[in-house]
Amino acid sequence: VSESTIDAIVAALTLAEKASLCDGGNFWSTRAIPRLGLPSVTMADGPHGLRKQAESFGFPGSLPATCFPPAVAIASSWSVATAAAVGRAIAHEAAVAGVDIVLGPGVNIKRSPMCGRNFEYFSEDPVVAGNLGAAMVAAMQERGIGASVKHFAVNNQETSRMQISAEVSERAMREIYLPAFERVVTQAKPSTVMCSYNRINGVYASENDWLLTTVLRDEWGFDGVVISDWGAVHHRVAGVRAGLDLEMPGVGTINAEHIVAAVTSGQLAIADLDRTVRRMVSLAMSSPAVAREIAPAVPSEPSSIDLDAQHEIAHGAALDCAVLLKNTGDVLPLSPSSGGPIAVIGTFAAAPRFQGVGSSQVNPTQVDDALCAIRSIVDGRREVIYAAGYGDGDAAVLLAKAVTAAAKAEDVVVFLGLPDADEAESYDRSHLNLPAEQLVLLRSVLAANPRVAVVLSNGSPVEMSSWDGDVPAILEGWLLGQAGGLATAELLLGLANPSGKLAETVPVRLQDTSSFLSFPGDGRTVTYADDVFVGYRWFDARELDVAYPFGHGLSYTTFEYSGLSVEVVDDGTEPVVDVTCTITNTGNRAGAEVVQVYVGDVASSVQRPVRELKAFSKVAIEPGASTTVSVRLTARDFAFFHPVLRRWVVEGGTFDIIVGASSRDLRLVGSVELSGEPVVYPINETSSMAEWLAHPVVGTELSTLLLGDAGYLTPPPMWEAFRTASIINVAQYPESPFSERDIAQWVERANQTTEVLA
Ligand code: BGC
Repeated sequence: VSESTIDAIVAALTLAEKASLCDGGNFWSTRAIPRLGLPSVTMADGPHGLRKQAESFGFPGSLPATCFPPAVAIASSWSVATAAAVGRAIAHEAAVAGVDIVLGPGVNIKRSPMCGRNFEYFSEDPVVAGNLGAAMVAAMQERGIGASVKHFAVNNQETSRMQISAEVSERAMREIYLPAFERVVTQAKPSTVMCSYNRINGVYASENDWLLTTVLRDEWGFDGVVISDWGAVHHRVAGVRAGLDLEMPGVGTINAEHIVAAVTSGQLAIADLDRTVRRMVSLAMSSPAVAREIAPAVPSEPSSIDLDAQHEIAHGAALDCAVLLKNTGDVLPLSPSSGGPIAVIGTFAAAPRFQGVGSSQVNPTQVDDALCAIRSIVDGRREVIYAAGYGDGDAAVLLAKAVTAAAKAEDVVVFLGLPDADEAESYDRSHLNLPAEQLVLLRSVLAANPRVAVVLSNGSPVEMSSWDGDVPAILEGWLLGQAGGLATAELLLGLANPSGKLAETVPVRLQDTSSFLSFPGDGRTVTYADDVFVGYRWFDARELDVAYPFGHGLSYTTFEYSGLSVEVVDDGTEPVVDVTCTITNTGNRAGAEVVQVYVGDVASSVQRPVRELKAFSKVAIEPGASTTVSVRLTARDFAFFHPVLRRWVVEGGTFDIIVGASSRDLRLVGSVELSGEPVVYPINETSSMAEWLAHPVVGTELSTLLLGDAGYLTPPPMWEAFRTASIINVAQYPESPFSERDIAQWVERANQTTEVLA
């Protein structure tokens, strides 16, 4: 849509109409202005399938839609192709259903495994979350549907989500909590961003000018619409001023009246309102709603969906997501064609848990279960005995039947996982444990037959260290969407080869996690005391044992890493480094490997993580074949966000370049020397003598002056004490060789060439 069309519509709107566009007309759509041909834009949840609600709020009863694997699983695929396939398929359903904007994906960082909504988020790492989120958004939008990346920002818990203030350093925001959003915004250009419920350093996201305007728009160039999370608005006028365009859901006329009054009284500049209105008009006029509502002559979308084809996409994605955590003695894959009975134990085998609870809950079009799928693949060649093991019924009887089945079987598969109520939107988890009855079942089954493979269904990590030592094989399925049952059966029976890797650490104990002492705060504030040391960054810095590290995942084949080359293409202020290596499939099955490139800053003036993921690539390789993997690293991959200078800085020196099969399975190690840039702090009269003496502009002059007067050359160890003094105090010493006036002149000269503190 042309700029002039938008301008013309904005110019023709009355003040009341402008204000009315700042909130939704109802729960799911924006207001139309028919006299100007401005259509109403329709929204629906996201993020892993369409939840199109006919009327008001509520979770059951949405239109049937394909339930794709939730983000927790998509992240474990580490596959941008898979994320894109899912994004495209969701957008396809949205288009046919007359939905213009899908509310997702969610790219918040998993600060704690306790966040009740972690199943909707990708990772503890911003590179994983950002790349997969961007791929999903780009694919949705290529299909003509807008995305709403959420929840912006620093929304890492559900407890008191509408009141809590996340107290977090700017460095932690820039390095951990914002980059996934930044990548999605700058690379995939989502049409909308959804602001979160919480406050950030005291200011609600929905009124946060720094977040919604300075960072999102001025720095990242976002030109779309910011939508409030449903009910996140507190002061609508402040929101308009800060850059919140659309309040959702609609709140009648009350806030439009506030906006009109604020403009009339001069409290809100009309330019601020027009800015928002322009974005709303542009969103509506470039959305599919125009074709649907304003010019519906030629139907542009098919009238129905091929649900089987959609289900097949969900199935393909699920195959890519499951993570083989452990496979001692090659217990897996099971033979589909020969051997004694297979005992399939656990209610989740027959009644799978495949998605989480809350606004993301999809009403699935069909659901595969692993039990049926195993039976149909084995097709009578082996006996398949099922026992529920836990759930409805007499616990003792369920247990006894399961033990009998295990004792009779050659292979045992036990399906364990979390009940719905253990993780859901709007509250956090209270522990990491599997239900006690499931662990009793597992122990009893193992005693009857130790040849057990456990399949897990959970949206966030469970405690495993108390039992995994006795289980030879574990397949972490997370929540695999409506086709997860078939995918699980195929992976167990070797029709497909697991290729997922953990996008979050599985800790030994909750007590080991970075946020243990500061999560979820006191209902008013939560202090991000772990700062940038979140997830593996924390476990690695503290050298803590973990149950399964970030990036870990096995395959039925093996991969060898060789031939690392690290080449500095450009060593300017914007360094560019190419990293290349060769991966060989050394086993006898086709498989896919996720190659992970980490960077570690060997010496730094601030404390930095030991190593951080900067790039990854998933490659499918035939047995015996090799593939070359190349990634390009740029300045940002070596930089940290300088807490004093308040910008990204590459400090010169040695950087380790590590290629790993996980964050703790480091296969190839190289290094580069980068010249970086000198970090010079702005100085003033309270800066230390040490800083003054080291200053590139005035340091030499000052030391010459001091050397010239023996009195000021205090011998060690007092010299060190002298170096800590503020220069202003030294100026006041008796017979000081310089005065306050000298300092003032030096400050001016020094800071002309360096940064000014904000
Ligand atoms: C959730 C959002 C969701 C919205 C609409 C909110 O409660 O936080 O993620 O998109 O509801 O259902």
